Amino acid sequence: MEFYTIFIVSNVMLLMSSAFAKTASPPSVSLTPTPAPAPAPDFVNLTDLLTVTGPFHTFLGYLESTKVLDTFQNQANNTEEGITIFVPKDTAFSAVKKTSLSKLTPDQLKQVILFHALPHFYSLADFKNLSQTSSTPTFAGGDYTLNFTYDSGSVHISSGWSKTKVSSAVHVTDPVAIYQVDKVLLPEAIFGTDIPPAPAPAPTPDIAPAADSPTEHSADSKAASPSSTHDGSSSHKLINCGILANLVLATFGMLVLM
Ligand SMILES: *[C@@H]1O[C@H](CO)[C@@H](O)[C@H](O)[C@H]1NC(C)=O
Ligand SMILES: *[C@@H]1O[C@H](CO)[C@@H](O)[C@H](O)[C@H]1NC(C)=O
Ligand SMILES: *[C@@H]1O[C@H](CO)[C@@H](O)[C@H](O)[C@H]1NC(C)=O
Ligand SMILES: *[C@@H]1O[C@H](CO)[C@@H](O)[C@H](O)[C@H]1NC(C)=O
Repeated sequence: MEFYTIFIVSNVMLLMSSAFAKTASPPSVSLTPTPAPAPAPDFVNLTDLLTVTGPFHTFLGYLESTKVLDTFQNQANNTEEGITIFVPKDTAFSAVKKTSLSKLTPDQLKQVILFHALPHFYSLADFKNLSQTSSTPTFAGGDYTLNFTYDSGSVHISSGWSKTKVSSAVHVTDPVAIYQVDKVLLPEAIFGTDIPPAPAPAPTPDIAPAADSPTEHSADSKAASPSSTHDGSSSHKLINCGILANLVLATFGMLVLM
């Protein structure tokens, strides 16, 4: 008789708590943060930014004449990856021999300008990690890569042909990072070929064209989001079950003691 009462009471408790779990579940599920891409609140006007900082007039002039500005602005506007641009000051351009840039074909000049940006947003601290990678692809793609070394807060850049460092952070807010560099980054792929003794850099065939990486990455993160929400809700159910079992056991134990 007594056992029967216990059985009924625990069953009632079970029903009540499962009903509670059901009503409690929906709001807590909606509370789990959805990893939806945060819309960029402010559009970063690169022209504007490079006009008011610097002086970066020479670089800006090349950005406009080669139309690379559109490529960079599009990356800043429309990708989650963002962009990192290394901008040489006007004095850096005057230090480069006039002939160096003027004898380039329009395509080569465009490559040189594309070479000054990475198709990803990197904060200064990210370069510590980036320095572990042997070569980082730039917007120019192919074997137009840069090497970074990070030494107690200062970032050194090697293009294979020129070495320089980041001398100031002009703008570092995801998705746009702009760093001032001391020298124009001259890609070995173009300038290395002028000097016969310099061995041609080994081609790096595995590096995907810069334009592909942002789309691949955003597709990945989209595909990842539903599964992560699913994981969240199933672990939530597990927690509910655990609470339920404990509750039933506790009630049962108390009744037995009585
Ligand atoms: C960006 O800024 C420049 C210079 O201030 C301006 O001429 C241009 O119209 C702006 N572009 C957009 C898309 O707002
Ligand atoms: C970037 O976004 C601004 C503001 O929405 C727009 O005016 C401009 O045309 C865009 N530029 C590119 C290259 O997508
Ligand atoms: C560091 O770089 C590697 C690739 O070299 C990347 O997989 C990893 O996510 C990076 N870690 C951080 C904390 O950025
Ligand atoms: C980058 O480093 C790798 C490995 O140390 C080297 O093979 C490559 O030539 C370097 N590239 C540049 C652009 O400095």
